[in-house]
Order: sequence, then C-alpha cells, then structure tokens
Amino acid sequence: MNISLAGAEGWKRTLRLFGDKSLSHRSLILASMASGESVIHGLSKGADVASTASCLRQMGSEIDISEELPVRVSGWGDRGPAEPVGILDCGNSGTTLRLLAGLLAGSSGLFILDGDESLRKRPQGRVVRPLSEMGATLLARRNDTLCPLVVKGARLSPFRGSPEVASAQVKSSILLAALASGSEVEMEELGHTRDHTEMMLRGLGVPITSDGLKISLSSGPHRWNGFEYTVPGDPSSAAFLVAAAVMGQGTKVTVEGVCLNPTRTGFFQILERMGAKISMRVTEERMGEPVGTITAESSRLIGTEVEPHEVPPAIDEFPLLAVVATAAEGNTVVKGAEELRVKESDRIRCVVTELSKMGARITEAPDGFTVYGPTPLSGAVMECHHDHRLEMSLAVAALTAEGTTRLENAGWASISFPEFWSFYPGPQERSEA
Ligand code: S3P
Repeated sequence: MNISLAGAEGWKRTLRLFGDKSLSHRSLILASMASGESVIHGLSKGADVASTASCLRQMGSEIDISEELPVRVSGWGDRGPAEPVGILDCGNSGTTLRLLAGLLAGSSGLFILDGDESLRKRPQGRVVRPLSEMGATLLARRNDTLCPLVVKGARLSPFRGSPEVASAQVKSSILLAALASGSEVEMEELGHTRDHTEMMLRGLGVPITSDGLKISLSSGPHRWNGFEYTVPGDPSSAAFLVAAAVMGQGTKVTVEGVCLNPTRTGFFQILERMGAKISMRVTEERMGEPVGTITAESSRLIGTEVEPHEVPPAIDEFPLLAVVATAAEGNTVVKGAEELRVKESDRIRCVVTELSKMGARITEAPDGFTVYGPTPLSGAVMECHHDHRLEMSLAVAALTAEGTTRLENAGWASISFPEFWSFYPGPQERSEA
C-alpha cells in the first residue's frame, strides 16, 4: 500500500491510547505463567502483541481476545509451557522472540522461534550467549546469531554478570529464563533500560530488587496467581502526536492515561530541553508504573546534543527526534545510539536517507546522526523499510512539509499503533502499491 499525505495546521486533539506494547507483551507472558485466570484491560491491538499471544496459545495458554471485552488468560501455571508441535512465529516482533527465548530456555521441551524478513536479520547472539551460559541449548543460523532459533530448555544455573548490551529485551530474557527454572540472577545493566519486567514481577510478589543498575532475583521457585491489570497507554505511540504538535502551527495535543515511567519518557525530556511546551502530570500508579497526562503544543525549538546515557529511555523515538530536529534552530547531535542500526530497520541509515529526500540537512555517524536545523521540508516519495516507527515518523514529517508526500510500501503502523492513521491530523489517501 502507498499513502499520500499533505500538511495540516491548527489541529487540536484530546485522546486516550491503547495499552503500551512492552507492558502488553509482559502482561500476556506473566499471565500465561500464572496459576488461574488473569483479566487484562486495554491490551495493545498491535500485530507484535498478537504474535506474542499466538505463540503463548501454541504452548497451552488459553488467551481469549475479543473486540470489546477485556482479555482473559488462563495460564499454564505449574505445568509450564507445553512443547508446541509447530514453529513459533514471532512475526516482526523482537520482544516476542527474545523474551520467549528466555522463558523457554528455562522450561522443558524443544521450541523453534522464527520471524519475518526483518526479524531474521536482527542479532540474536545477545540472548543466545547468556542463555547458553546458563545451561540451555540454543542453535541458530549464521553461527548462532540469526533466527530461526532452536531452544532446548534445561534446569539453568544462576546468571551473574552484565548483559552484553543495554537492552530491556536481553535483561528480560535472562530474568524470564531464571524465573522459569527457579534459578538466581545477580545482574548489572550497562544502562538504565525500561524496567517493566522488574516492576510487574514485584507487583506480583516476586522477590526481585533493583539498586541503580543492579538487579537481583533470588532462587525460586516463584509462583503467582492470575491477576487483573489495566495496561497504561503507550508513550512511544503518544510520542508521534506530541512531536506533530510541537512542530506544528496552532497545534495542541493532550494524551491521557499514558505510562510515564522515567525509563520511557526520555524523548519528552529531550523535547523539553529543545524548548518544547510540554507537560507530564502523573495521575495514578498501576503495578508501580506512574500513569498520567501529557500535553504538548506548537513550540519554538532549538537544537540539542543527546548523550549516550540518554539513549535507552528514548530508544524507540530517534527517527522521530530526527524529524523534530529539522524544525529546530541549530544542530541536533545524537551519539552512542549504535543500537538503532539493529532495530526493525537500520534506523540511522534509513532516517538519514528518507529525510534527505525531503530536503533535510542530516548526516550519518556510526553511532548516531546530526541534523542541521532548521530546514524546511518538502514533500517527497519515501520508503518505509518494513519499519513501523520509521513510517509514522515520516508521516509526522509530512505534516509540516510543503506539498504532497507519498509513503511507499506503507502499512507497518499496525505493528505497534493500529489506531495511528485514525488519529493522524492531516489529509491521507491510500492506493495499491
Ligand atoms: C523493548 C525494548 C527495546 C525497544 C523495543 C521494546 C521491550 O528494545 O526498542 O521496542 O519491550 O523490552 P531493546 O531493549 O533491545 O533496546
């Protein structure tokens, strides 16, 4: 599908979003490991979370997802996951593949995890190595680095050390492996990555502690019962509307019920430093997660320098930051973000290539990019590179560009934010590719 877009000004929106993608994956996984029934409200309707649900179903978790009602999950509890007959298809979702690889490494049975063209290019050695050191058998293509990934679970030894990258997926994979096999973890992260797994486990009564970058999980078995949970809105989805509002003229957005966990709000903090009129107000707490309202409006922006330690809490928002930086006075420099090269696309290369087509002055570095702002954007024909966040970021750029923009091979937004196009404030026209 191709989507043609044009600019929009003066729009105002107040909205509530579906559940955060990271928290949705985790709530399905932890509900599947629980004894008894869980009820989950506001689960993400994105394709990535649907991939997690379908893999968990193949292993005996009963997950009932219907249009309007909350999702009901009857977990496998003490029985553990059943060995599936077929391959577990993780689709486009790195979170599904890496978190499940951990859970299955500590369970009993043989499991094969695979994904789409984009996932088959993403590095899996980062989970294969620690899980193998803990005692599971993992085999994968290209010297055990690319999926399909075969996992033969085992009773695992403790994990002591640091994951090789600052990644919440790798951290969570190790924690789930330890939980599934009742072993211990003494971990020190390389950076502050999203801490949803730790927070939810604590909420379920599992003795897991965090102290700065250190995380400890005592040896199990740890068991929990089914639970009721309302997934807070996704800050990474809210980010697109917030970015569009701060770049626009006469624009304003209010997003309610959003997860405001500080390990996720890095992008909003960076925008604030760039002069954006943005506010975050915590209104409640859910299983330890602060939840609240974000308001943002049309702003005069200045360039900024993003340091490596600021990367993990904003990790999914860098293509979007590049777009916003084109409207800022002065240079915006991002460093220490080489992880962007192994996301759903090479997000450094792709955002530089695509924004350049719109007239942006942007250069690539091995670990980031520099945007020389402000550069007025003009409509162009652009490629989405199988990447939901790139597609939505380019769509935000189209809102301030002169003329028409055409996104080719679009349709990826449904991976994480299926409602994106219904909230999109500008004109849009679809055609077959
Ligand atoms: C995620 C962690 C991040 C993020 C991804 C979701 C998670 O990946 O990019 O969209 O739910 O744990 P890394 O932890 O590998 O950086």
